[in-house]
Amino acid sequence: MKFLKPAMINKFFHQNFTINHYDQISSTNDLALELIRNNQIQENQVIICNSQTSGKGRIGRNWVSPNGNLYFSLILKTPQNINSSNLSFLAAVALGEALNLDQINYKWPNDILLQGKKIAGILIEKDANFIVLGVGVNLISNPEQTNYPSVNLKDCGINLEKIDLLKSFLDKFSNLNQEWLNFGFAPIRNLWLKKAFNLGKKINIRLKDGSSQKCPSGIFLDLDQDGNLVLNVEGQNILISSGEIF
Ligand code: BTN
Repeated sequence: MKFLKPAMINKFFHQNFTINHYDQISSTNDLALELIRNNQIQENQVIICNSQTSGKGRIGRNWVSPNGNLYFSLILKTPQNINSSNLSFLAAVALGEALNLDQINYKWPNDILLQGKKIAGILIEKDANFIVLGVGVNLISNPEQTNYPSVNLKDCGINLEKIDLLKSFLDKFSNLNQEWLNFGFAPIRNLWLKKAFNLGKKINIRLKDGSSQKCPSGIFLDLDQDGNLVLNVEGQNILISSGEIF
């Protein structure tokens, strides 16, 4: 089927980023991947939209995407010689700094919590040479039925304009990205750990394959240099590379 490019409603620039603003599309990640495959988009471009008809979450879930919240994807070149999975932690910290609120926590691997409830999620997808970093933030609404309790900024008395939040995210992301290139993952990891949800506490993990047999529980000890969660199970440390805390 031929890919139909949806109409853009605005295009503008911020720092070295080009922002392509659409009204309703299926998913900013899907459009980004499609444009990458068709050689129609380059790194440092952002696709933002007002609503998504097929918004995607992690682990094959959908991301309910009505008007009023923030949905965007940032297109990046796959970094050479550095672990690109660290990018999701960098993005979580950038978003946490952009939100600039008390009571923000980072929930492994890359959820943002406000007052213990999910306020934003990040979905990273990869193509041969590119990374698509998709971000959704609950500005004015959040779905009722979710695996994990969620919340929106408006209900917490916080009014943020979506383009302002996007620009602020891009500023923080650029700074942290530079730090990552200069000093490696350690500074990002430290910032993430400072606000890590349930660090040092007993947690249950649902592994990525979702099988009920595989739900280890233990003490959340650390985040390693590759972004793995270090779980202490009955005195033995195990590394968890994908899954979710529930
Ligand atoms: C999650 O927590 O499950 C990740 C949610 C990611 C949602 C964003 S909204 C913009 C981008 N486009 C998508 O289809 N998904 C991401």
